[in-house]
Amino acid sequence: MPDVSALRQALLDWYDAGARVLPWRAPPGSAERTGPYRVWLSEVMLQQTTVAHAAPYFLRFTERWPTVNDLAAAEDADVMAAWAGLGYYARARNLLACARAVANEHGGVFPDTETGLLSLPGVGAYTAAAVAAIAFDQPANVVDGNVERVVSRLFAVETPLPAARPELRQLAGTLVTDARPGDWAQGLMDLGATVCRPKAPLCLLCPVAFACVGYRSGAPERFPLKAKKAERPHRQGIAYVLRDAGGRVAVVRRPDKGLLGGMAGLPTSEWRTAAPAFDPPVAADWREAGAVEHVFTHFALTLRVVEATGAGEFDWRPASEARAALPTVFKKALDRALA
Ligand code: ADE
Repeated sequence: MPDVSALRQALLDWYDAGARVLPWRAPPGSAERTGPYRVWLSEVMLQQTTVAHAAPYFLRFTERWPTVNDLAAAEDADVMAAWAGLGYYARARNLLACARAVANEHGGVFPDTETGLLSLPGVGAYTAAAVAAIAFDQPANVVDGNVERVVSRLFAVETPLPAARPELRQLAGTLVTDARPGDWAQGLMDLGATVCRPKAPLCLLCPVAFACVGYRSGAPERFPLKAKKAERPHRQGIAYVLRDAGGRVAVVRRPDKGLLGGMAGLPTSEWRTAAPAFDPPVAADWREAGAVEHVFTHFALTLRVVEATGAGEFDWRPASEARAALPTVFKKALDRALA
């Protein structure tokens, strides 16, 4: 068991001396705290992408919608367009739903407790804890994947993920106190991002190596242990690349629910274990164009690609514009058909 008070002091000192300067962040130790709107917005964006990628989006959003009431009053389409490039539109929709709940049901003021924050639409345990700690300096236990990694090394937790989650959360909680909880949470995040990195941790630069059981073991990168993954299931589908006489490509909008929800797509069969029936969206002179492979988190997909010239009720886009709007799996299929 590390000396909690020495460990805390060392990490907070390190954070004071070198905290990353981030657009949503108040300087360490400052009495001035970043308001909950900016903290919440940044945390939602950071669940989707890296600090470097999120920063310009954060600046554009807060310039255009400086308060939660401004965001709540925005047109859906404007927010979706501003979100493009950050991934899953479902998150942008949740973002708007949350902003509107704060504006309409809470008088434009974010709840100032973890429990109150949890009641907002789209706000889960992580976001509620992060906003409570960073915006309101409450001793919330903020645990994301980075914190899990840091804690698994500090305590050399031998239980593999995902089973280790409750244990890692409990251990992380033993390090949280009433003193500077917002800086503590952000110090842990900075440590995980810059020093306690997944593959090659920089233990020689680590302010808490003296208290780290994983470091003392000689192989800190062994943590967190991971359960062997079950082999990825395989699915099959058919992508229909339809072009009109002018060479424009037929694009559809995928259903809001499900994989790639709300994003642009090519007309496609369902993706199942068994080969799907050939059931094109319009009758035409369909030709085989080959196949492409794509690996999603939960399955691998082989997409048979067929192409034809035809007409119909679609969102017709010039090929380069269609390509830019499509997620990678459909880019591959389009490229195969146009090759
Ligand atoms: N990653 C997630 N939240 C963060 C934050 N507030 N600052 C830096 N990195 C983060």
